[in-house]
Amino acid sequence: MLSSIFLSLLSLTFTTALPTDSHLDKRQSTGSGPFTLIAAHSGSPIHLQAINANGGSFWIGKPPLTYCPVPPVPPGDCPPGTETALNVESGNCGLATEVPGGQDVYVAYSGALSFTEPHEEGGEVGAITGFAYQNNTNTTGGLGVFSFTGLGSLGGFVACPTVNGTGPYQIFADLPYLCDKAVPGGNVSACIGFDALGDSFANETAAFEYE
Ligand SMILES: *[C@@H]1O[C@H](CO)[C@@H](O)[C@H](O)[C@H]1NC(C)=O
Ligand SMILES: *[C@@H]1O[C@H](CO)[C@@H](O)[C@H](O)[C@H]1NC(C)=O
Ligand SMILES: *[C@@H]1O[C@H](CO)[C@@H](O)[C@H](O)[C@H]1NC(C)=O
Ligand SMILES: *[C@@H]1O[C@H](CO)[C@@H](O)[C@H](O)[C@H]1NC(C)=O
Ligand SMILES: *[C@@H]1O[C@H](CO)[C@@H](O)[C@H](O)[C@H]1NC(C)=O
Repeated sequence: MLSSIFLSLLSLTFTTALPTDSHLDKRQSTGSGPFTLIAAHSGSPIHLQAINANGGSFWIGKPPLTYCPVPPVPPGDCPPGTETALNVESGNCGLATEVPGGQDVYVAYSGALSFTEPHEEGGEVGAITGFAYQNNTNTTGGLGVFSFTGLGSLGGFVACPTVNGTGPYQIFADLPYLCDKAVPGGNVSACIGFDALGDSFANETAAFEYE
């Protein structure tokens, strides 16, 4: 878990988006085990808040929305489904689920960080490549940095408030052309940029499936 020493380091280090080059250069491998995500932007209302999969998109201020099919899955055999964990491999990203075929993470052409329903693929509706996870064990106590550089993005993400500048906040790739119409509050200037930090997740899967 996050130590107080780490938290003070974090507030010094991650005040603004990291340069994109450093994201990619320090990547240690192409495959990363499951990790959960928190937002880092010190002094903002989203700082150190968990990012969760819910309703096909990703949110700060909403819990993960998960499903366990009992039956046929025996009662108690699904993962708890209380956290959102992802994997990145060779530029692709997926949710750490048990459902056959898995669930792809993609960035919709609108910019929304999104995930497919089980048994679907995301390529037709957005970009499924361009994801990276830099597992920076030396400098951040095991935390890594998650980034997306497809669709002209410089790598970062923004969290956009839903109503009146308050949460829940929907997650978008920081695309140069992200527009008012695309974001839930209708005001892209109200979106908050952040670094997406990953923390290693203990199990292979975090949910049977996300909804
Ligand atoms: C990050 O690296 C450490 C040490 O190699 C490893 O134990 C951990 O599983 C990795 N985490 C992820 C999310 O890949
Ligand atoms: C992490 O630290 C070890 C030991 O000091 C070093 O060999 C390794 O290159 C470092 N890795 C990174 C990504 O800085
Ligand atoms: C948003 O703010 C307006 C003006 O202050 C207020 O009338 C409205 O009820 C607020 N909406 C929500 C959902 O809080
Ligand atoms: C959009 O958000 C910015 C930053 O919070 C704010 O200054 C501006 O007044 C907002 N515009 C509208 C139309 O609400
Ligand atoms: C990891 O798996 C074990 C065994 O299924 C379970 O008891 C535990 O709650 C899981 N932990 C998390 C964080 O999902």
